[in-house]
Amino acid sequence: MARTRRPLIAGNWKMNGLRTDALALAAGIAKGLKQAGWTDRDLLVCPPATLVMAVMEAVGGSGVLVGGQDCHAKASGAHTGDIAAEMLRDLGAAFVIVGHSERRTDHGETDAIVRAKAEAAWRAGLLPIVCIGETLAEREAGNTFSVLARQLKGSVPAGATAARLVVAYEPVWAIGTGKTPTTAEVADAHAHIRKELAGMMAEASQVRLLYGGSVKGSNAAELMAAGDVDGALVGGASLKVDEFLAIAKAV
Ligand code: PGA
Repeated sequence: MARTRRPLIAGNWKMNGLRTDALALAAGIAKGLKQAGWTDRDLLVCPPATLVMAVMEAVGGSGVLVGGQDCHAKASGAHTGDIAAEMLRDLGAAFVIVGHSERRTDHGETDAIVRAKAEAAWRAGLLPIVCIGETLAEREAGNTFSVLARQLKGSVPAGATAARLVVAYEPVWAIGTGKTPTTAEVADAHAHIRKELAGMMAEASQVRLLYGGSVKGSNAAELMAAGDVDGALVGGASLKVDEFLAIAKAV
């Protein structure tokens, strides 16, 4: 079946990577993209902020896109240790992940904070990838859809358009665990997300919806075949050139 939305395969390197390995990884992905000659999908890498500039250089004109993993809501000011969306943009980043469950848990980020960060991304000219997803307890209690709806309503700013928004569905219990939902569960969640988005914005049918959580080369084809999945947000497997390219190929 032909895809109507351009697939996006995003690597979230998290707090991994010192210069030598990270630049080899970036260069390897750039080489892989060139060799494969894909023009019908986007490949994105989100290194730690310390490496955004060097990774930009390493991917050169290959077409591999670079993004940040988080940003502050403000453009500048007295916020020690934080990074503004404008700073990422200044280095050439095109995307920023906001509301990853690790940020929500480690840093107490609420939907309101995530929403402010998504607005900051727009202000700076970045495309936000807004992450949502239920915990295992929420799934087992039968609350998956209500949690997703609440997170979407709270985290996606008013004025969203398909060109300015990517949503990543990442069940918290699937992140870094090797566990994945079934394709039917992914399809159900994505259909629900798109339905909720339709109540919030005009272009909901064109918004790219990524699945994330233990995606690897060997399960990517199956997960990507689920209805309404337009790509992947990949953690652990994005740190290996071959794995990341295998996922990109499977889309
Ligand atoms: P994982 O992480 O692929 O290692 O499960 C995904 C993510 O957190 O984005």
